[in-house]
Amino acid sequence: MDSSKLILSVPISLFILVINLCTVPMLGCFDRIITFGDSISDTGNFYLLSGKANRSISALPYGETYFRRPTGRWSDGRVIVDFVAEQFNLPFLPPSVGGNTPEYFQRGVNFAVGGAAALNNSEFTRISGLNTTLSDNSLWVQLQFFNNLLPTIANGSDVSTMMRNSLIFVGEIGGNDYNRGLIAREPLEKITTWVPYVVSAIGSAVNDLINLGATTLVVPGNFPIGLHSCVPYAIPN
Ligand SMILES: *[C@@H]1O[C@H](CO)[C@@H](O)[C@H](O)[C@H]1NC(C)=O
Ligand SMILES: *[C@@H]1O[C@H](CO)[C@@H](O)[C@H](O)[C@H]1NC(C)=O
Ligand SMILES: *[C@@H]1O[C@H](CO)[C@@H](O)[C@H](O)[C@H]1NC(C)=O
Ligand SMILES: *[C@@H]1O[C@H](CO)[C@@H](O)[C@H](O)[C@H]1NC(C)=O
Repeated sequence: MDSSKLILSVPISLFILVINLCTVPMLGCFDRIITFGDSISDTGNFYLLSGKANRSISALPYGETYFRRPTGRWSDGRVIVDFVAEQFNLPFLPPSVGGNTPEYFQRGVNFAVGGAAALNNSEFTRISGLNTTLSDNSLWVQLQFFNNLLPTIANGSDVSTMMRNSLIFVGEIGGNDYNRGLIAREPLEKITTWVPYVVSAIGSAVNDLINLGATTLVVPGNFPIGLHSCVPYAIPN
């Protein structure tokens, strides 16, 4: 891990700084961006996986200020990773479930799925005692999906070279593990015991990616949720 430019838990302002370390011309700095995460980064996976219809994100105001139509983003405009892609003169990241050719993945791919947790469903149930009926789009599952697509993304060339030339975002992810507990009205003291498991799942994903050759990873921290936030569902009784 030492030789990698690993940025752990950086606030957004800092990761913009990291990006600016890249010298002009921006184009050529990275061949592509690869992203894992949840609704903060999803550019259409949940939308495609859920059959598009009858989801809040399938209708305006989602998409109205920039794309002028719903695109599967949990935003009326662009999401953070869209702005990052623009800075690198790369196209907006296509959702991983939307295609399966080297051409589709050539300049980037986004594995983030709205609602995704860091822990897979069985691991979440094991540590929390809570059942989840949500489909498992966890970081764990996203990595498996990524591994299956690796030969296509690398298009027959060396995987570690492809990884070295990619900018990789692992997250934001993990917020939904805590959200599940907050929605179930679990006590904060219990939810905080999950933190080491969530952090370890993210760390293990980062290690897997480094072992595949990744050298530039951004691991954004979680937004403030729970006790000190103004998210109504998260305010304790
Ligand atoms: C979406 O909702 C409408 C109105 O409730 C319903 O008629 C339609 O069958 C639903 N479509 C899908 C794909 O579930
Ligand atoms: C993938 O590899 C084939 C064979 O080398 C090449 O013709 C094609 O242009 C490549 N596609 C991309 C997107 O790099
Ligand atoms: C869930 O994740 C754990 C590691 O956190 C792994 O050991 C386990 O095999 C995974 N389970 C499934 C069903 O994918
Ligand atoms: C979770 O599901 C299992 C199997 O359906 C059930 O036995 C158990 O009581 C459930 N636990 C909770 C906390 O709902």
